[in-house]
Amino acid sequence: MSISKLTSDKVKERADIVEVVGDYLPLKKKGQNMWACCPFHGEKSPSFSVSPAKQIYKCFGCSKAGDPIQFIMDIEGVGFQEAIRHLAGKYGIEVEEDETRTPEQNQEQNERESLFIALNFAKDFFVKNLQTEEGRSIGLSYFKERGFNPQIIEKFDLGYALDGWDHFLKAAKIAGFEEDILLKAGLILQREGDASRVYDRFRGRVTFAIHNVSGKAIGFGARILTKDKNQPKYINSPETPIYHKSDVLYGIFQAKKAIRDLDNCFLVEGYTDVVSLHLSGIENVVASSGTSLTDGQIKLIKRFTNQVTVLYDGDSAGIKASIRGIDLLLEGGLNVKAVVFPDGEDPDSYSRKVGSQAFQDYLKENQRDFIGFKIGLYQDEFARDPIRKAEVIREIVQSIGKIPDPIIRSVYAKEASGLLQIEEEIIHSELNKSLIKSNKDHFQKAKEEAEAEEKLEELVPSQGQLSFLEKLSIHEREILRLMALYAGENLADDGNTVLEYLLSETLETKFQTANYERIYGLFKGITTQGKGLDLKSLLDEFPGQAKTEVIDLVQQRWEISPHWTGRHGILVPTEKDDLAASSYRALLWFKKRYVEKLMDEASRNIRSADANREDFEQILVLQNIFLEVKKVQILLSKELGIVIG
Ligand code: UTP
Ligand code: MN
Repeated sequence: MSISKLTSDKVKERADIVEVVGDYLPLKKKGQNMWACCPFHGEKSPSFSVSPAKQIYKCFGCSKAGDPIQFIMDIEGVGFQEAIRHLAGKYGIEVEEDETRTPEQNQEQNERESLFIALNFAKDFFVKNLQTEEGRSIGLSYFKERGFNPQIIEKFDLGYALDGWDHFLKAAKIAGFEEDILLKAGLILQREGDASRVYDRFRGRVTFAIHNVSGKAIGFGARILTKDKNQPKYINSPETPIYHKSDVLYGIFQAKKAIRDLDNCFLVEGYTDVVSLHLSGIENVVASSGTSLTDGQIKLIKRFTNQVTVLYDGDSAGIKASIRGIDLLLEGGLNVKAVVFPDGEDPDSYSRKVGSQAFQDYLKENQRDFIGFKIGLYQDEFARDPIRKAEVIREIVQSIGKIPDPIIRSVYAKEASGLLQIEEEIIHSELNKSLIKSNKDHFQKAKEEAEAEEKLEELVPSQGQLSFLEKLSIHEREILRLMALYAGENLADDGNTVLEYLLSETLETKFQTANYERIYGLFKGITTQGKGLDLKSLLDEFPGQAKTEVIDLVQQRWEISPHWTGRHGILVPTEKDDLAASSYRALLWFKKRYVEKLMDEASRNIRSADANREDFEQILVLQNIFLEVKKVQILLSKELGIVIG
């Protein structure tokens, strides 16, 4: 699983941001940097910049930014490991697995690899079967009937599992696969009552290979061809170490580029809907494969877009049953639209019926935002029954309450008030009630985590008793100390001096310790900036009293107990060797303490607002502040290698 540090270091060293981004975008040089239209958000004039000097990219439109590895993660929608592999491939760097792994980890890794190989073998086997006599007369003719052409069959690795108990098993054994792995891969089954006898899971069915984001086969769905009512229509792969159903969307590999380009994702029910939409020229489509949507699947979509259009079969009972999926999408911060097909039609049947152009027009004309969609769904019911109307209002308000962004929430509240003909105030007050309730749970959890971390710190002597302000003060001093000692020294990786770097990274914060804020102000005002500035000439810039204070600051450092140096990343003997790293760590600690102070303030404010019975809206705002700041704190802690919770 995990790639050795040596390999990732080699990749980091070798990967050039211009070459990496250049594989995807036409870059134009303008000044120091290269420019292109941002691939992560729609735009007509380029605000996506690549800096060859800093080896980073940054979009001034959507503020995505990072190094070559981050770029691959963003554009390919893959994780760190996968990105390293990708770049290693590009630069011909040999990928070495981590040797520090335990034997168990090694075994797990070997097993996963074997599973991927077995699944790939099965995929090829099923695909080839389509060309056998049985495959052609049964499988291929079924696909043809559904209007699938050879290109689409190839694109989706569609295949055929021969009718019989062990066609696959035999072939796999000849190819050297152990039964054990085939079982774990979900490709064969043990006979009931006699585990020593095994047989093929997929028999006499057409197969739909299920791919992960990077295009590897990880499972199958296999559809029956007869009308036999005693058999399930589909047999699907079971959960395996490489196939976690709740994290997989059918079609994501074939759709990801289109989803990003069009900044929208169509969500359908099944395999055939996905394939048929591709035939109609719509490629930004995935299926949850018959199950209800999960958080993992929503996260997957969010790697590529924030807009989802759910396509529903035209039967309102079915829609009402699956409508919970919409709330989950809203909760995930996605922008949700819905399209309903005429009675009795699903996306697959309807696209075949009316043809590609009419189908696309239908989508455009009939898509509605989720408020309009939900209200439309219940319109008949509440026209007849006022009590039902009240229930529907509450339900819609609850859905609106799931939307994380307050601005979008209030846009929908307004729309709902218009459509339902209810005063906006009433909607808002219902909304607040439901928000307070759901926020309370999140808030409680975040608070417990924060308290647990505080306890952890109390284990280190002399820290637990300090207030947030006092802890922050220590790190303000640390920033000033580095500024004073290494002011004019160059940072290893760019042209900046330590002073320039630390100043630029702290410009938006105010130092909370009055004395330090004053000294910080003096640093800001220094005129002889630049390389070579040493402590002595620096002190010349300062007025008498400040001089003593700065000297004091530089020396105080040595009195800090060893506990501090370890726990707080103030590593005296090595800091001079890698000033970039030392400065960076000092900044992380400073920022972490800073947001912790903000969290503390927010949490106090919430308590007093609660005690004073202030209005819901106010408490809500405070809770959201706390949660936002908490997110930043978690990021900082992660970067510092501290595990929370
Ligand atoms: P459908 O019944 O629409 O499948 O199920 P279909 O192949 O499109 O059939 P027809 O041609 O319209 O009648 C939709 C999805 O539900 C899942 C599959 O993912 C399927 O694509 N499903 C359905 C199962 O997993 N198991 C089943 O037994 C039925
Ligand atoms: Mn169908």
